Amino acid sequence: MQTAAHTPASVEPVHLAWPSEGMTRVPYQVFFDPAIYELEQEKLFRGPLWSYVALEAEVANAGDFKATFIGDTPVVVTRDKEGALHAFVNRCAHRGALVCREPRGNRVRHTCVYHQWSYDLKGNLIGVPFPKGIDGKGGYPADFTPSQHSLRKLNVATYNGVVFASFSDQVEPLVEYLGPEMRPWLDRIFNRPVRVLGYARQFINANWKLYLENVRDPYHASLLHLFHTTFGIYRSSQGGGVILDRYGRHSMLRAYKRTQEEEVGAYRGANLRTYQEQYTLADPSLLKTRKEFELELTNSIHSIFPCLVVQQIQNTMAVRHILPKGQDKFELLFTFFGYEDDDEEMLAIRVKQANLVGPAGYISMEDGHATELVQQAIVRDETGRSFIELGGREAVNQENLLTETGLRAFWQYYRNLLGFNS
Ligand code: FES
Ligand SMILES: [Fe+2]
Repeated sequence: MQTAAHTPASVEPVHLAWPSEGMTRVPYQVFFDPAIYELEQEKLFRGPLWSYVALEAEVANAGDFKATFIGDTPVVVTRDKEGALHAFVNRCAHRGALVCREPRGNRVRHTCVYHQWSYDLKGNLIGVPFPKGIDGKGGYPADFTPSQHSLRKLNVATYNGVVFASFSDQVEPLVEYLGPEMRPWLDRIFNRPVRVLGYARQFINANWKLYLENVRDPYHASLLHLFHTTFGIYRSSQGGGVILDRYGRHSMLRAYKRTQEEEVGAYRGANLRTYQEQYTLADPSLLKTRKEFELELTNSIHSIFPCLVVQQIQNTMAVRHILPKGQDKFELLFTFFGYEDDDEEMLAIRVKQANLVGPAGYISMEDGHATELVQQAIVRDETGRSFIELGGREAVNQENLLTETGLRAFWQYYRNLLGFNS
């Protein structure tokens, strides 16, 4: 029997002429073209990259599992009886149903609800109902071999308790993927075992890369977020800057306190909506902080390509996982964490400060909406492009907070990865 020739959308040529100005202009097409979204799923999420999938603390014990996604492909992370971590595509080898339907839990095996094929914690097929039929009738052909019907297994690696997976066998070792520029900053946060404190998730009607721009963008942080600026959590006049890895794919945005006068002076007379000197908190305990790192930063926002953000704002820490759901939507999953050895006071501080971020966070609620404001406005303008020249036209480390260097670096890397040339 002949099958019709089928060309997956992913190999359709994508018509995109990158503006000649290079990384200082981004064609809006990258945010709304379904063909580009398909290309990203294939070349990027299934390409030679590591994608964040879990914290080890979420799958600490034998049988623990977590269902998540790489790009928009559902995957499961498990810990087997010997303590090893595994990741596989969450798609039954029989007829393609989701095998694991809960976000997390503990199981000795994973059984597909559709026809009850079951898999061990490594993703191997271990049981099939009625393989030989009943009374010699029905069942599978004699050459049916369960070992040929495992779940699609992925490579797994961990760094300081953070779990990554990859579809590719060509991917470089995780420690090199993270790189010497980012590792010290991740070491600062993941310096001892963490404890998950809770989750928050939100659905955002915008392209996932708009959020990636957002977390690399120190400019907006004091101009969009009134809470940040007014209450001194983050101001453009603070110390800090942006550190990039050598490829520009990861970035680390950090800010630290200067004196009140140094910080506020820049805002007085600037007539900025986000600095409201007369505002005070009815309950100032929200911003009660405790020193915990040798290097004190009010904000450290790590963006690890493609979809992991590690955040420390005062004493609240979270990983934010960006889950693309089509060219114009993504889900954002916050996993709040502290350390296993936190005392009661520190735990209470972290829980209270979790109010700063998440879907309704005093700061973060504006970020999701800002990305939607872009998505709503760019639609159908085939020739439109953004303007990214704050802090110059290069993608280099900068020791100031009025720069878009992290965005330029990202776009340069993305453009090369996807093969978008002028
Ligand atoms: S699709 Fe999973 S058992 Fe049939
Ligand atoms: Fe923000």
